[in-house]
Amino acid sequence: MSDARVKFVLDEPEIPTHWVNLMADLPGDAPPPLHPGTKQPAGPEDLSPIFPMALILQEVSTEPEIEIPEPVWEAYRLWRPTPLYRALRLERELDTPARIYYKYEGGSPPGSHKPNTAVAQAYENAAAGTRKLTTETGAGQWGSALAFACRLFGLECEVWMVGSSYDQKPYRRSMMESWGAVVHRSPSDVTEAGRSQREHTTGSLGIAISEAVEVAARNPDTNYSLGSVLNHVLLHQTVIGQEALAQMAMAGEEPDTVIACVGGGSNFGGLTLPFLRRVMREGAGTRFIAAEPAACPTLTRGVYAYDFGDTVGLTPLMPMYTLGHNFVPPPVHAGGLRYHGDSPLVCGLVKQGLVEPRAYRQNETFEAAVRFARAEGIIPAPEPAHAIRAVIEEAEVARESGEARVILFGLCGHGHFDLSAYDAYLAGKLPDPEFSEGELSAALASLPEAPALA
Ligand SMILES: Cc1ncc(COP(=O)(O)O)c(C=O)c1O
Repeated sequence: MSDARVKFVLDEPEIPTHWVNLMADLPGDAPPPLHPGTKQPAGPEDLSPIFPMALILQEVSTEPEIEIPEPVWEAYRLWRPTPLYRALRLERELDTPARIYYKYEGGSPPGSHKPNTAVAQAYENAAAGTRKLTTETGAGQWGSALAFACRLFGLECEVWMVGSSYDQKPYRRSMMESWGAVVHRSPSDVTEAGRSQREHTTGSLGIAISEAVEVAARNPDTNYSLGSVLNHVLLHQTVIGQEALAQMAMAGEEPDTVIACVGGGSNFGGLTLPFLRRVMREGAGTRFIAAEPAACPTLTRGVYAYDFGDTVGLTPLMPMYTLGHNFVPPPVHAGGLRYHGDSPLVCGLVKQGLVEPRAYRQNETFEAAVRFARAEGIIPAPEPAHAIRAVIEEAEVARESGEARVILFGLCGHGHFDLSAYDAYLAGKLPDPEFSEGELSAALASLPEAPALA
């Protein structure tokens, strides 16, 4: 029997006390978000109708670290620190000399990394006197996390859930409602944005964002909460990477490759930004791989340009790789990865060549997920299954070259509400949905006029 350890567990007092802000370490000035009407740089006052000032200040902060407020740290104790596992059984199954580690965020009450930012956002809104938060959700993980966080801090919560996910994952809706949230199928009839997009019956994250922003913008006691993309969301998620750094040190290992999936970039940023800071400050030679779906290949096939964060054009323009704000990705089960853009911070890192993006099709992703589940036990959500696919590829390269590589990846959620997708895969009935080149070119042709990005 191997005496290698499988779990690396921190104690409660070791939950990080600060978030890591990589903006402080980036060379030069990042291109600013632009006001959607004037196309001038958007200032804090442009964001104040839908966000509390404390979060806006985090969004634009250049401080290297930001202290975690005590009530947020107290809430983190419900599921943090999260475990780091050595995937010994997967290594054996792959017959690879690579040593594989994963940071598991699926033990949080909603089942993913999303409450790391949901509790921080709900806390700051409650402190600012907000009565209600609105949001979108793709797979339902983010909506569940915000419903849970609103319950902790006494806020109401209203969620627009992307139509295809609403149909595929009915129990995610039950979960949100159990925590007291109101859930709509998007596109819905209760907003102008929803009514204008009725023909897109499967919905998209971009449409659901438009619906949630519209309601927040027209009600003074209501704010909007975004589960990814923005700097402050990635900031809150850096508790993942900070814990992983400490746990890799406990294991006496240094990862040469860090891998995570990307929808809007918060799980990827949360795991990698503390490691990237070491690359920038100490010249560490770590590689970073961002895994995304071939059905929504933002980082691998998008263009680097200013675009709206939502479909209808209510949000500021952001500098990012985009497939076009009115691109409606085919309905893959990784609903959390069906977003036309990505975090400007992550896109900047891809542009600089510090992060390597890869895209995978739905069936090869589920093949990797099932292989992982059969070796390690945990049934992954379809989103991190993309990262697992990349891990298996890397482990196979290590097998061919005989290199003892050290790979770390983010297992950011469980797939207990995604079993209909597993059913379809196991029955050989899972499609690999494609979009047409015509659809992509049409969406790219409708990018807003804005200054070109270098
Ligand atoms: C389990 C899981 N992973 C990843 C994502 C993608 O979002 P992000 O890129 O912000 O982590 C989602 C989004 O809902 C998710 O639910």
